[in-house]
Amino acid sequence: MKFFVDTADIAAIRELNDLGMVDGVTTNPSLILKSGRDILEVTKEICEVVSGPVSAEVVATEAKDMIAEGLKLAKIAPNIAIKVPLTWAGLTACKAFASEGHMVNVTLCFSAAQAILAAKAGASFISPFVGRLDDINADGLELIDDIRTIYDNYDYKTEILAASIRNVNHITECAKIGADVITAPPAVIKSMASHVLTDKGLDQFLKDWAKTGQKIL
Ligand code: E4P
Repeated sequence: MKFFVDTADIAAIRELNDLGMVDGVTTNPSLILKSGRDILEVTKEICEVVSGPVSAEVVATEAKDMIAEGLKLAKIAPNIAIKVPLTWAGLTACKAFASEGHMVNVTLCFSAAQAILAAKAGASFISPFVGRLDDINADGLELIDDIRTIYDNYDYKTEILAASIRNVNHITECAKIGADVITAPPAVIKSMASHVLTDKGLDQFLKDWAKTGQKIL
């Protein structure tokens, strides 16, 4: 399973990338706001750090304007994946971008029906939002499972990029289902290393080691 990091925070991207944990990056308008940076500048900087796909999102709502914005974003670097919302205009832009060989990430997917349309429009990635479905008492992981079944039934090549990942359980469940990619905030990826029994065990080992009076170095 590939890991994309869901942030525009360059320091956080570098830290995870140096450990080989980053296969790509996703951004959205809210993350650009949080970074306090200019979208073109920060996206260029991310593309200089990460060689995998870097999603940059259009903000127009009409297809022709989305296409103009997307083509500008795609000029930032060859590894840009143009991110479009799952609207009819977004699907129109997706088809246009895909026909010209651009990577496209179709975002804000909340149903299997939407995911079918994205695959047929040539999306490289479909981004179903797990956490936001859970927020409304729906089942985000069930959606990932449904899309996996449908894409496998028809051998669709679009990669399932599980988004709106909020916790470690989301990641392990997505891995079991067979999502191609997860995108998660840096803190969630780092929290995968934590386990209460690891902390407890290490604490005991260090206490016992101190009692031996020995040193390794
Ligand atoms: C990434 O592509 C999505 O925009 C992001 O995962 C959304 O996450 P959120 O629901 O936590 O804002």
